Amino acid sequence: MFLLLLLLLLTPIIAQTTSSKRGLVHIASGGHPSDDSIWITPPTTLTWYYNYNSRPTSSLSSGNLSFVPMLWGDHNNTFVEDVRGQEDVKWVLSFNEPDMGSNVGGSDITPVRAAELWKRDIEPLKGVGKELGAPAVSGSSTGMSWLKDFFNECDGCSVDFIPIHWYGNFEGLASHIGEVRAAFPNKTIWVTEFGWADQPLAPTQNFFNTTLKYLDRLDYVTHYSWFGSFRSDVSNVGPNGAMLNSDGEVTDIGAWYLGRQGKGIKPNTGNSAARIRRGDWVLWGIVYFIISLRAL
Ligand SMILES: *[C@@H]1O[C@H](CO)[C@@H](O)[C@H](O)[C@H]1NC(C)=O
Ligand SMILES: *[C@@H]1O[C@H](CO)[C@@H](O)[C@H](O)[C@H]1NC(C)=O
Ligand SMILES: *[C@@H]1O[C@H](CO)[C@@H](O)[C@H](O)[C@H]1NC(C)=O
Ligand SMILES: *[C@@H]1O[C@H](CO)[C@@H](O)[C@H](O)[C@H]1NC(C)=O
Repeated sequence: MFLLLLLLLLTPIIAQTTSSKRGLVHIASGGHPSDDSIWITPPTTLTWYYNYNSRPTSSLSSGNLSFVPMLWGDHNNTFVEDVRGQEDVKWVLSFNEPDMGSNVGGSDITPVRAAELWKRDIEPLKGVGKELGAPAVSGSSTGMSWLKDFFNECDGCSVDFIPIHWYGNFEGLASHIGEVRAAFPNKTIWVTEFGWADQPLAPTQNFFNTTLKYLDRLDYVTHYSWFGSFRSDVSNVGPNGAMLNSDGEVTDIGAWYLGRQGKGIKPNTGNSAARIRRGDWVLWGIVYFIISLRAL
């Protein structure tokens, strides 16, 4: 009885500080490969990652993160063979935002074509014990209708979980999850990209905390990955959701996500932006010098 009471008292505390659901959308940092060591240095709450690719990221391989391969789009890259060769892989992601144009990072595929590709590149992996993620549609209104069309086309396809994306406020995310849950009541949900894009810092941090508590509580949301794992100066969703500032220091959101204490590092701090501006002046100086020479 006493033990049970102790367990009941401890459970919520444990649930707040660690999360087996938490993962990384890994975005390679071209100019700063050493940033990758941040994600695999203990302590960390992260348990899995994906990188929009079929093969693991070598700089993350010494960590304890489970790799989740992704087909991404309509390109023949021997996906089935690649993934079959990776025995540790348990889950597979299929298409990335197929309902969106390639100009905004989508893989731009019709539900009919996606169903064909699913049967060729994804379904065979069910036979070797992998769990399969539905196409990860965007959070816009086109997403759900694309997904319903896909399910109508992909007759007999074995979808195990539904990945979703969201870039709006908390109420919108909660309602979107409700809509997905209502449409696919027997599937678990992964939130594989989320954030509240282009907001000031305080609302971004409040969104972050509220959303993570909510996702940790929903038992049918089994995985989530915050967007994102990059420096604030290269973010395409505004600087304030970035887990690193422009010098590669871990921001508060980055620290909280990893289960560490925030050190008050703001996303808009760091010298890289200033260095880029100085670099521009040097470049213009050279251009001006060349033009002056030609004028002589
Ligand atoms: C991997 O997990 C083990 C056991 O939990 C832990 O001792 C080790 O520090 C972890 N290694 C890394 C790189 O996270
Ligand atoms: C990939 O493309 C090559 C060349 O077009 C073709 O021979 C091969 O069968 C394709 N693989 C799959 C899995 O369709
Ligand atoms: C969900 O699963 C239950 C029990 O396995 C089944 O009876 C029901 O038809 C399923 N619903 C959907 C929408 O697949
Ligand atoms: C968010 O949660 C962290 C703990 O994870 C806490 O330290 C921080 O004060 C919270 N911030 C806000 C803005 O609620």
